[in-house]
This record gives sequence, structure tokens and C-alpha cells, in this order.
Amino acid sequence: MLKMRNLLVCAAALLSGVVAQSSSVGAYVSSESPIAKAGLLANIGPSGAKSSGAKPGVVIASPSTVNPDYLYTWVRDSSLVFKVLIDQFTSGADTSLRSLIDEFVTAESVLQQTTNPSGSVTTGGLGEPKFNIDESAFTGSWGRPQRDGPALRSTAMIAYANWLLDNGNTTFVSNTLWPIIQLDLDYVRDNWNQSTFDLWEEISSSSFWTTAVQHRSLREGSTLATKIGQSSVVSGYNTQADNILCFLQSYWNPSQGYITANTGGGRSGKDSNTVLASIHTFDPSAGCDANTFQPCSDKALSNLKVYVDSFRSIYSINSGAASNAAVATGRYPEDVYQNGNPWYLCTMAVAEQLYDALLVWSSQGSLEVTSTSLAFFQQFSSGVQPGTYASSTSTYTTLTSAIQSFADGFVAIHAEYTPSDGSLAEQYSKTDGTPTSAVDLTWSYAAALTGFAARGGNKPASWGASGLTVPSTCQSYSGPTVAVTFNVDATTVEGENIYLTGSVTALENWSPDDALLMSPNNYPIWSITVDLPANTVIQYKYINKDGSGDVTWESDPNNNITTPASGTYTTNDSWR
Ligand SMILES: *[C@@H]1O[C@H](CO)[C@@H](O)[C@H](O)[C@H]1NC(C)=O
Ligand SMILES: *[C@@H]1O[C@H](CO)[C@@H](O)[C@H](O)[C@H]1NC(C)=O
Ligand SMILES: *[C@@H]1O[C@H](CO)[C@@H](O)[C@H](O)[C@H]1NC(C)=O
Ligand SMILES: *[C@@H]1O[C@H](CO)[C@@H](O)[C@H](O)[C@H]1NC(C)=O
Repeated sequence: MLKMRNLLVCAAALLSGVVAQSSSVGAYVSSESPIAKAGLLANIGPSGAKSSGAKPGVVIASPSTVNPDYLYTWVRDSSLVFKVLIDQFTSGADTSLRSLIDEFVTAESVLQQTTNPSGSVTTGGLGEPKFNIDESAFTGSWGRPQRDGPALRSTAMIAYANWLLDNGNTTFVSNTLWPIIQLDLDYVRDNWNQSTFDLWEEISSSSFWTTAVQHRSLREGSTLATKIGQSSVVSGYNTQADNILCFLQSYWNPSQGYITANTGGGRSGKDSNTVLASIHTFDPSAGCDANTFQPCSDKALSNLKVYVDSFRSIYSINSGAASNAAVATGRYPEDVYQNGNPWYLCTMAVAEQLYDALLVWSSQGSLEVTSTSLAFFQQFSSGVQPGTYASSTSTYTTLTSAIQSFADGFVAIHAEYTPSDGSLAEQYSKTDGTPTSAVDLTWSYAAALTGFAARGGNKPASWGASGLTVPSTCQSYSGPTVAVTFNVDATTVEGENIYLTGSVTALENWSPDDALLMSPNNYPIWSITVDLPANTVIQYKYINKDGSGDVTWESDPNNNITTPASGTYTTNDSWR
């Protein structure tokens, strides 16, 4: 009897804790929403309060100019920010945004045409990650290219285009938006199978986030093209979308139940990259489809648990949290940037994935536990077994209410470490939760708004993730290529050989181990002919390996060539 009473008291306390959390999270959402919206708008030129000097429609990443200096415009961040504004505009939530959106369109069309270190508009320049806020090229060294930008920018513009078509404005879509969108989508089609720096600008390999958003952009791009009679691009986009979907599956690590975020980099691969990909490719009509890693798919839920758990022991602000409680999360556990702290946008992304999942379960009237997602669900009910639970069952109610409160727990952490003025920096300290790194990060505000919208039941538009079939064999794709002959005058001693490596897959992506062996048929000229992507700026270096495998790189800077559109090309270099 005593035991039973204690249990009841305990359950009541737990319940009142959950209710209290839910209402305080609700209060935070209400107070923080307008602050996040205002913070986001303050970072857009020309009249944003914190973005003076930015051209109209240009989004600054943050007003911070030292440690770190983020007063630049990134294609990725800007596109994610404007996707939020376009969704608010097209849903009718804020009809005042149209002229700002039109300014964004103009600004991005200028950036597309701005020749930069990645190339010109036709030779790879669309992969350039960041520009100065006056729309000139940023010419310093950087992790380039980053091939998610064109995909995300086209996704934002396609959302606007679809609204304009629904409202009878085909002219603007065909004459103004489509030429911009097509440049980006053609770039995605021809370059998805090339290496890229990841969204954190650190690792050059293949990246789940980039692959996932590229897949989405080609699917919805092909649908838009069909609607406006641009049929010539449709089959090319569809073919490569199928190839990308096939490649996307390869990031899944079945034995450990998570998505490996990058193919290179030498880390665990546990990374918010994967959670962000799931929420930014959420398609409510696709249910819990695992091929597109929908938020409620077994793979994405298993991945979410592995990702969250990787932060439990490494941030001291998480100490003492129960093993199934919400905790602060950051980009990836090995992160050392600015001392390696939790990020607001990463913590909010966990909540958003869970809210998205709850929305789909609610609309389909059931949830499914599989052997893949079992560990995720057993956090909330240790005895739950694989099966499909209809919304009328107590298992469904137990799980969904625990998951709702788990999700709210991440928002509660976000709230706890947000200062009283509601401003959102990039990071909060892993030791005491104080805001750190860049102040007023535009993406932090955008992420708060999408997380809050998901909590409020907002369902984004479908982009075509439903009913896709993964091809049984994956095809690689190099786009159009040209044969390039490299000749280098390099004197060597017995046992030494000259190799070539560089910025594209065909040059083994800067790998000294996999670099291509050249032949000394015309010594001291070493030569090799390689098929390389046409119309592309390619960086490369020669390396010397001696008999014991020691590698000597040529001195800086990297060499570069711009490949022609067709035909062949020969470059004649001297070892530096
Ligand atoms: C290509 O190399 C030349 C000569 O080193 C350099 O001036 C130029 O900036 C390089 N271009 C790119 C896009 O790296
Ligand atoms: C179509 O949309 C563009 C962009 O907002 C606008 O400038 C133009 O006036 C619209 N055209 C019509 C006919 O409404
Ligand atoms: C290119 O695609 C093939 C087939 O999916 C894949 O094995 C390879 O890793 C991809 N490479 C890059 C750099 O995307
Ligand atoms: C390299 O030399 C060959 C002939 O030896 C010449 O045809 C080619 O134009 C040269 N390439 C460049 C980039 O000058």
C-alpha cells in the first residue's frame, strides 16, 4: 500500500512536471517568436538594423566582425533564412514580406553571376560558399566549393515559384525565377557526384546533408519544370535524382544505427548534419519513409538517439541529466571550434525532428516501432516491442506523450540558455550555458522559427518524396567531361615518382594516398591524361613519393586550370 501510494505521488509529480514544462515552453515560444523574427529581419539589407552595408536582400550571417568575423553572406544560410520567410509569406502568415523576397531574388541573381575563386557562373562559381555583403567576391582562402548552396537556393525559390503559379503569375516564374533556378539545378545535376566541403566548412568529401538537399532540389525542380513547360530538363533531373537517392542510402551505418554524416574527415560521423537534413527534407506526404530519412522514419529516429547520446558525457551542463532526458547538443562530438560548444540551432533541430514525427503519426493515426527504431522508443517505455500501434492504444499514447515532452525538453534547454533579451548567438557554453561565439546568428533565429512552427503543427509543402523507388544499382555521374593532359617538368632521383591529386573526384580529392601515378615517358616531363568535368575550375598539385612512401607536396599556392566546354586540354607545368 505504501509502495503504491509512493508510486502515485511520484506519477503525479512527474505529470505536474510535464505540464509545467509544457506551459513554460509554450510561454517561451510565445515570447521568443517575435524576437527571433525581428532578429532575423535585422540581419537583412538594406534596412536591417544590424546589417548596414548589406545590399538589398543580402542576408548577413551575423553582425559579429571579430572572433569570429561573420559579416559575410553565405548562400546556404541566406537560402535557409529566406525559405522561412517565403514559407511565412506563401502561407499567409506574413503578407508583408513580398518586396523583401523579391530583393533576395535579385541579390542572388547577382551573386550567381559574380565570378569568384570557384569559377564563373558557367565554370563552377555557383559552388562558392560566401560573398562580401556588397555582393563582390570573397577572394580569401576558404573551404570551397560547398555544393549545398545551389540546392538550398533553388528550394527556396521553387517554394516562391509554386505560390506565384498558384496565383496566376506565370510570367515572373518563367522569365525571372526559372533562369536563376535552372542555373542552380543544372549545377546540382552535373556536380552532385563531386566532392564538396560539408556545411561546417571543414571536411572535403561527400556529405549526407549536401546529398539530401541536392536530391530534394532536383525532385521539386523537375516538377516545376514540367508545370511551366521546361520539359527539356526533366529527364536529366529525374535520372540524377534517382542516382542521388541511391547514393543517399550509402551513408546509413546499419551496424551502429546512425547516418554517417561525411564520407571523409576521420570522425565518428555522428553529426547534426543528419538531423538538419531530415528536417529540411521533411515531406509530410511521405509518411515515415526511410529511403528519404523522413523525421519519423526508423533510421532517422535511431540516428537521432545516437546523435543526442554522443553529447551526454562531453558537455558539463548535461551532467546529472537522466539517460533519456533532453540535453544540450552541438554540431558533432569531436567539435573543437570556439572550444566545441552546443549550438542553439542544433538543439532546436532535435526538437523539430520530433515535432515533425509527431505530426505524421497523428495524421496517419498510428506509429510503427521497428527493430531499427527500438532503442529510440525504449527510452520512453522500456518494454515496448516492434509493432504498429494505432492511436487508440495506450502504447501510442504513452509513447507520443513522452516524445512530445522529450521534444519540449530540448526547447526548454534552448530557453534556459537564451539570455533575457531573447538574442540568439551561435553557441552556448558547454560549461555554464552562457552565449558564446557569433552574436545574433541569423540561422539561429531561422532555426528557432522553424522549430516553433513545427511545435505549432505547421506542415511544410510536399516536395515529392512520396513513393520513390531506390534504384537497385547506384550509378555515378561525372556530367560532361573533357580529356585533360597534365605535363610537369620534375627532376627526381631513383625510387621517386610523381603523382597528381586535386579538387575533384577524378583527381582523388586531394588524397596523397590515392593520388594518380604519372608516367615519365618523356623524362623529366611526367604526364597523365584524365577525364575531368568540363567547364570547371579545378585546383591541383603534384606530389613526389619516394621509395619508402614519404610524400613531398609542391609548394603553395595550388595550381588551377579552367577546363573547356568540350574537346581536350593540355597543361604544362614545372615542379615548384
Ligand atoms: C589560379 O592560379 C593563378 C596563378 O597562381 C592565381 O592568380 C589565381 O588566383 C588562381 N585562381 C583560382 C580560381 O584559384
Ligand atoms: C508577379 O510577381 C512579381 C514579383 O513579386 C511582381 O513584381 C509582378 O508585379 C507580379 N505580376 C503580376 C501580374 O501580378
Ligand atoms: C559518386 O557516386 C557513386 C555511386 O553512388 C558513389 O559510389 C561515389 O562515392 C560518389 N562519389 C562522390 C564524390 O559523390
Ligand atoms: C602545352 O604544350 C602543348 C604542346 O607541347 C601545347 O599544345 C599546349 O597549348 C600547352 N598548354 C598550355 C596551357 O599552354
